[in-house]
Amino acid sequence: MCGIVGYIGAKSALEVVLAGLKHMEYRGYDSAGISLVTENELFTRKKAGKLGNLQELLTEPGIPSSNLGIGHTRWATHGAPNDLNAHPHLDESGKIAIIHNGIIENFSQLRKDLTASGIKFNSETDTEVVAHLLSNSLTAGSNSLADAMREVCQKLHGAFTLVAVHADSPDVIVGARRNSPLVVGLGVGENFLASDVSAFIAHTKNALELGQDQVVELRKDSVIVTTFNGEVVQAKPFTVTWDAAAAEKGGFDLFMLKEISEQPKAVADTLRGRLNIDHILKLDELKISEQELIEIDNILIIACGTALHAGLIAKYAFEEWTRIPTSVEFASEFRYRNPVVTTRTLCIAISQSGETMDTLMAVRHAKEQGARVLSICNTQGATIPRESDAVLYTHAGPEIAVASTKAFLTQIVATYLVGLYLAQLKKTISTVKIQELLILLASLPAEVDLVLDTIEEVRGLARKFANNKSVLFLGRGVGYGVALEGALKLKELAYMHAEGFPAGELKHGPIALIEEGLLVVVVVPSPTQQPVLHEKIISNIQEVRARGALILAIAVEDDQIVDEFASHIVRVPHLNPFLQPIVSTVPLQVFACEMATARGHDVDQPRNLAKSVTVE
Ligand code: F6R
Repeated sequence: MCGIVGYIGAKSALEVVLAGLKHMEYRGYDSAGISLVTENELFTRKKAGKLGNLQELLTEPGIPSSNLGIGHTRWATHGAPNDLNAHPHLDESGKIAIIHNGIIENFSQLRKDLTASGIKFNSETDTEVVAHLLSNSLTAGSNSLADAMREVCQKLHGAFTLVAVHADSPDVIVGARRNSPLVVGLGVGENFLASDVSAFIAHTKNALELGQDQVVELRKDSVIVTTFNGEVVQAKPFTVTWDAAAAEKGGFDLFMLKEISEQPKAVADTLRGRLNIDHILKLDELKISEQELIEIDNILIIACGTALHAGLIAKYAFEEWTRIPTSVEFASEFRYRNPVVTTRTLCIAISQSGETMDTLMAVRHAKEQGARVLSICNTQGATIPRESDAVLYTHAGPEIAVASTKAFLTQIVATYLVGLYLAQLKKTISTVKIQELLILLASLPAEVDLVLDTIEEVRGLARKFANNKSVLFLGRGVGYGVALEGALKLKELAYMHAEGFPAGELKHGPIALIEEGLLVVVVVPSPTQQPVLHEKIISNIQEVRARGALILAIAVEDDQIVDEFASHIVRVPHLNPFLQPIVSTVPLQVFACEMATARGHDVDQPRNLAKSVTVE
């Protein structure tokens, strides 16, 4: 939520910041703004709507040339998405500009106090209090903008990344973070600040992780990091493992289409280095001891949205392979209850961004209760992996489209690696069986590649149903998680009523939704590998057909039984039942993407959403 960019160096700050903001837009696109610092002057422009509106505004003549600038793309929390609430926000003197990601929870009291002291506010945001507090701190004698930032941060509650500049300090940008992301990009004679590395990857791959409650002073030749109390700390350096091209559309019309098509490679990258040539599983990077893992007696998966659906699928595999009872919880619900968690609980947090606030808070809650936390994450150095006892990175590469695709497939694969590793340690399935499953996992990239051949057929179907009001998705077993994922994709992209159900639950209420012509997408299990489930789902199909529904079946290639019951069939490769979701999800991603396109929506940036949800 909200993208942040800062630049100081020798280049045009306007150009670097705007280019960085283009890569940050996935984090929010309600408004955008920049501030440039020139010799003791601040130049600020901001505009509601997407970045394009700001860029248009910046075609005006007379924009000062500057080598220091900050920029922001907003996902609105406090105050409507209009010009006034757009960031940066200024203090009364107009010399300090501040941008912010997160929520300042005690802003209301701070605002009352500032108003009582005579300060006039220009916006409804929580952010603006920081501009005035910084100004007060400097007036009261703080030696520098960084000192003022350290003092002010200690007064703030909640989650925040803050980046400030001062017209009278044209050689420094000051950033701060608590529970919200901020990374430093290290250049030669130039440095960068951003919510994530994609904002500066075109300039440098060298980066620094900032820890909790730290302030950073960025000059063109130096970076100083301190705690909020002013103690200097060594930030952890890291090198970005992907290059600038990975964050571009690369010839595709949409990031989502590009990311769907990258799935074979993403799955291969998740597996890389983790299976050796004899298909023995090696997860050396898991920093929880073998003995501790052997002693685990329950698994708790916490996640949100798509990542939660990956967890729901993993639960079936974990219980089958490891015989460890596994529960899956919405992070936002887990966080606010009194769960039964022990030191023998393995909490698995799944998060693409590694910054989702609900998941982060749930991780902390689980740790406080004594659980060991293993995170499955796609973003190097993000907060959730940093706070976990161990991390398994999915290595899917940057996911820019707001709707998650390759992250989902790779999350399932990563959970399976963990499940098989536990089974290997606990000896709950034979070595031969584990090797067989690993060989099947290794074949997944090729299988996903095959299913991509159905793209055009699925697009045709999506266009056919684009005017529908509602679509239901049914599945059983691991297919239930796929049904939920198909429905979520359709809701978030096509803004259409869509719901996923376990097919057996339908008759307990939701069947009342069925009416003539309603499209029901059914994820059909294999008739040979899961004959009982297959039979049951055919009965469920009949129940809804009898009430006028049209059936779109996602069925394995050799399932002929389904032919007479479905109006439309999309064929997917026939795999081991646990691997089936990896291929069955792909047509549903394409279906939602095309449905949204046909309905005229912005697929990569759906309304009201942001990629990284850093507020609770
Ligand atoms: C849906 C989607 C979201 C995310 C959820 C968790 O397409 O992307 O539901 O899956 O917000 O995000 P991460 O995985 O970053 O924790």
